Amino acid sequence: MKIVVSGTGYVGLVTGACLAEVGHSVTCVDINEEKVELMKKGVSPIYEPGLDEILLSNYKKGILNFTADFVQAYSDADVIFIGVGTPEREDGSANLEYLYAVAEQIAQNIKKDCLVVIKSTVPVGTNDYVEKYIRENLKNDVNVEVASNPEFLSQGTAIKDTLQASRIVIGVESKKSEELLKTIYERFNIPIVVTNRRSAEMIKYASNDFLALKISFINEIANVCELVGADIEDVTNGMSYDPRIGNKFLKAGIGYGGSCFPKDTKALHWLAEDNGYEIKTVKATIEVNENQKFRLFRKAKKRFNGFKNMKVAILGVTFKPGTDDLREAPSIPNVKALIEEGANVYVYDPIGINNFKTKVSGKINYSEDVQEVLKDADVAFIFTEWDTITSISLKEYRELMKTPVIFDGRNCYKLKDAEESGVEYYSIGRRDIV
Ligand code: UDX
Repeated sequence: MKIVVSGTGYVGLVTGACLAEVGHSVTCVDINEEKVELMKKGVSPIYEPGLDEILLSNYKKGILNFTADFVQAYSDADVIFIGVGTPEREDGSANLEYLYAVAEQIAQNIKKDCLVVIKSTVPVGTNDYVEKYIRENLKNDVNVEVASNPEFLSQGTAIKDTLQASRIVIGVESKKSEELLKTIYERFNIPIVVTNRRSAEMIKYASNDFLALKISFINEIANVCELVGADIEDVTNGMSYDPRIGNKFLKAGIGYGGSCFPKDTKALHWLAEDNGYEIKTVKATIEVNENQKFRLFRKAKKRFNGFKNMKVAILGVTFKPGTDDLREAPSIPNVKALIEEGANVYVYDPIGINNFKTKVSGKINYSEDVQEVLKDADVAFIFTEWDTITSISLKEYRELMKTPVIFDGRNCYKLKDAEESGVEYYSIGRRDIV
């Protein structure tokens, strides 16, 4: 069976690599020739631990290939997975232009019967539309079906999330498509959930938005904890013993970011609205998250009466550890606001600095040395819980900073340690150490 994967971002490339890893013959298509040459050398265009090794070993085995020649690749494919991006438009709806461009190329170039599998996160009804579009624009006399197969991987653990996924969801409208996808996935030995295409599309949005809702919910509980003298870490611990609640995605912080939660909450809100329904829980999730991003900034502004000419140390800028991705990272609006307030901003991040430079302009000092960033700083903000940040002892802050005042957006330190070390410490959902 010849499998082609279109798009070599997180979803497409990880899908291609993992399908090859279980022994399928896979060709990954990307229109960018330079990227294709790099992937052949085992260099992934995205930062994802373990991905380079899988690309190289399967390329060397001859079962994973890369090409920019989509005409050739699509012509004899049995199955084409689409994993292109579906970014957010200004109104919050999903931008499907990359998906439609691939649908057009498929319609023009397939020469045998083919199953097209959409892995990208798309609004409900898109699979139906893409199938109709391809069928209406076919150049050759072949049969095409479209199936939905949403992706649930997280950045930084994408390989494990794919090879050992909790479930594989397939949305199909025919037994033939179901059997073909089951044959492809049986090697993963993971539960397969079969449903129709619209339900599969909805499972993806509902799953992501539910996780985002959990985070916004716990962030609001944290904010109330601060007001009433409760401790969010103890509260979540106490909640987590109830198996109906669980202990995952209940970490309070400075808000969620990334390429999925912000985009998918807005897309579902938009989709519901477009169908005449206001989805209030998702709307609240989005609003709470926007507000949460500035929680520490506001507290700090009040504490210092503004930031003019202060040395502000920023520890961590990526939306979470283990990735160089800056999409929707809470650090971005915070650093912009600090610069506007006249602060001298010093940024540390182990791998996110290059991407950060493309997102925020202005006078910023960068360093890959935490000590340098903390030296003589008036205040430090923690936005990402990288190991290299959580391993800094509180004593180091006290010794290096001019005034050891820490605003920790990821609750990296124990209150007891902060108290003993003599720093001024503000975190999320816990009492202030002053
Ligand atoms: C997410 C989903 O987890 C994944 O299933 C989906 O396919 C894509 O979106 P990802 O964006 O890679 O994956 O990151 P994730 O680990 O889910 O974290 C997203 C954001 O939520 C991060 O900013 C993280 O810091 C924040 N978060 C996560 C919290 O603030 N608290 C938590 O308890 C968990």
